[in-house]
Amino acid sequence: MKRIAVLTSGGDAPGMNAAIRAVVRTGIDYGWEVYGVQHGYSGLIDGNFRLLGQRDVGGIIQQGGTILGSARSDEFRTEEGRLRAIRELNQAGIEALVVIGGNGSQTGAHALDQMGFPVVGVASTIDNDLYGSDITIGVDTALNIALEAIDRLKVTASSHQRAFLVETMGRNSGYLALMAGIAGGAEAVVIPEVETDPEALVEEVRIAYQRGKAHAIIVVAEGATPEADGLARYFKKHSERIGFELRVTTLGHVQRGGAPGAFDRLLATRLGARATEELADGRHGVLVGHRKGEITTTPYDEVVSHVKTLDTSLLALAKVLAK
Ligand code: F6P
Repeated sequence: MKRIAVLTSGGDAPGMNAAIRAVVRTGIDYGWEVYGVQHGYSGLIDGNFRLLGQRDVGGIIQQGGTILGSARSDEFRTEEGRLRAIRELNQAGIEALVVIGGNGSQTGAHALDQMGFPVVGVASTIDNDLYGSDITIGVDTALNIALEAIDRLKVTASSHQRAFLVETMGRNSGYLALMAGIAGGAEAVVIPEVETDPEALVEEVRIAYQRGKAHAIIVVAEGATPEADGLARYFKKHSERIGFELRVTTLGHVQRGGAPGAFDRLLATRLGARATEELADGRHGVLVGHRKGEITTTPYDEVVSHVKTLDTSLLALAKVLAK
């Protein structure tokens, strides 16, 4: 092996830069040339490669986002797009690829690997919905950002005796909402994995008011049913009987843009380094993740054929703790 490339794909996640740095520096340590692919799979299709030296990845471990840029590419979902990408990689003499990203990105990586181009994946998404890693790069930082917002909202909510609907990201996963809700001491949590009856929720918040709570924080995951907007409308219709006045805060991309904390820097560094080690040992077609406290690899076939489940029993715990 002489030359590899690394790309980041899908939603950026705090810690991606630390993973890029680890891939570049460990790759160079193996005596390889390491190329960065600009703008994810779009850049792969366009042959948008740049040689990265040790200094090019200096001073990025503490930066959020990704120095390589990211994108969601429809073209790469087609076989023709992937063939174009392989042509570009072959022309540049690149022999293997490290893909840092979440579900969609790793599905694309699996397809590329199956077409004969060696790929190793690194588990990275704030959603924590990727099978093959108990925790993925970016989750811890995104969670702490959500938590800080909840703590602040609680302060103003208590001053005004208000309820707040706080919408967190997560696509179809309730992980961020549930964990932020528990860690933030929320009065209620609404997640996609469990359907919520708006009337039951209103009742919970009304009872919280009657019990003398100064605020009510309801954390709603973006993919929940009903979604935050619908819940807010229902609450406003019933505001007289609830007691609390309602405000809505959507955290959105704020959660993604933070500087990675120590946990994400270390996780990303270890996953990135392990990815190059896999390639050095001649292995590919696997996702590098973190399971049961260890850095592990999971075959792509297994990753794409399984759905990561959320421990919804924690929702019951959240309810008990909200009393
Ligand atoms: O997958 C990460 C994520 O932030 C999801 O939580 C969210 O649904 C989505 O990306 C938002 O995507 P975009 O940045 O393209 O709006």
